[in-house]
Amino acid sequence: MTAGACSGLVFLLTDYRKAVMKRKVRIGIIGCGAIAQELHVPEYLQSGEAEIIALSDSKHSKAKELAKRYDLSAKTYADYKDMLKKEDLDAVSVCLPNFLHCAATCDALKAGCHVLVEKPMAASMAEARKMIATADKHGKLLAVNQSQRLYPVHQKAKEVLDSGILGKILHVTAMFGHAGPEHWSPTGKWFFNKKQARFGAMADLGVHKADLIRFLTGKEVAEVNAFYECLEKKRSSVEDNFVSTLKFTDGTIGTLAASWTVKGMDANYTILHCANGSLRICLIPGRPLVANLINPECEIVFDTPEAPSNDALGWGLDTGGHFCRAIKGLEPLFCSGVEGMKSLEIILAAEEAAKTRRTVKLSRK
Ligand SMILES: NC(=O)c1ccc[n+]([C@@H]2O[C@H](COP(=O)([O-])OP(=O)(O)OC[C@H]3O[C@@H](n4cnc5c(N)ncnc54)[C@H](O)[C@@H]3O)[C@@H](O)[C@H]2O)c1
Repeated sequence: MTAGACSGLVFLLTDYRKAVMKRKVRIGIIGCGAIAQELHVPEYLQSGEAEIIALSDSKHSKAKELAKRYDLSAKTYADYKDMLKKEDLDAVSVCLPNFLHCAATCDALKAGCHVLVEKPMAASMAEARKMIATADKHGKLLAVNQSQRLYPVHQKAKEVLDSGILGKILHVTAMFGHAGPEHWSPTGKWFFNKKQARFGAMADLGVHKADLIRFLTGKEVAEVNAFYECLEKKRSSVEDNFVSTLKFTDGTIGTLAASWTVKGMDANYTILHCANGSLRICLIPGRPLVANLINPECEIVFDTPEAPSNDALGWGLDTGGHFCRAIKGLEPLFCSGVEGMKSLEIILAAEEAAKTRRTVKLSRK
């Protein structure tokens, strides 16, 4: 190829890249409850990367209310299958109760859409595998909204751990708790129904920390022990408290806990004890990320924002932006289906361990 032809090709590729970057991703929303209202829609809008084309909810009034709240000209549907049939969409967010994730995700993938599905990605490993296989078969992206990966404080913590200043990670502890989903989604009765939610606090909150631990340490869990109880939410058929102990494949140990009975102040922290000191993430109010080293002996307080508040309009995570840029091939997925499945496997193993009062080994199949 001549030098002239070569520079022409470079120009063409640059123009193509610019055109790709500018093009908005055409989004549909399946399920217009709390997470669609507070995170998906505002974060797609704030990203500037997406156009919300259609909204669907089996309670049609919820789709209409969501369109009104954000002044969207999007079409609204009561049946998401109609939306998938009639609209020309690039991608959808699946924001449904847990037991509906697999069917809606597979329907959307088959209809030619990339999917961002809420956590926990599925209610069983078989469902998770089906979703991944469907995405592969149809050549579409499957992302799981394990949103804690995107907290700026967790991104910074990962950078600190990867830098090696703390040395080998030896012990991890992570806890996520609040007063219960009734405060987050007053209409979301399904959270307390085992058939629809599959789990209680562990599916709602524990899976976030299971995923975060894997993300931060880069390690995989090998064995799990656990206890769970329903202490206060007596009308529910799921647990409101869960605690588990973890052993990683390299011998590192840890604890993972989730609760819906935490009062006064939410608990949303992770602590890593390492060979050269400790890293405390969101443990100390006003000091979201603190490292205490032994060599050289010092305390480092990192300048990063606190964990995002659920009350904020959009959580400042750029979730929609990350997903859209992955669709355009500009960055990798922040959490793929396979990653989401590995995190799901930890809480499923913890449930089995709690039920059988035995140590459960993860299969890794
Ligand atoms: N990433 C996070 O931090 C985070 C936070 C909260 C919830 N979530 C997850 O988001 C998902 C939804 O939770 P939520 O709090 O928005 O619940 P929600 O109950 O507020 O919303 C669910 C919506 O789905 C609708 N729906 C139910 N069945 C439907 C169907 N067959 N077709 C279409 N719509 C249907 C309901 O009418 C409701 O509007 C859950 O999987 C939950 O675990 C994630």
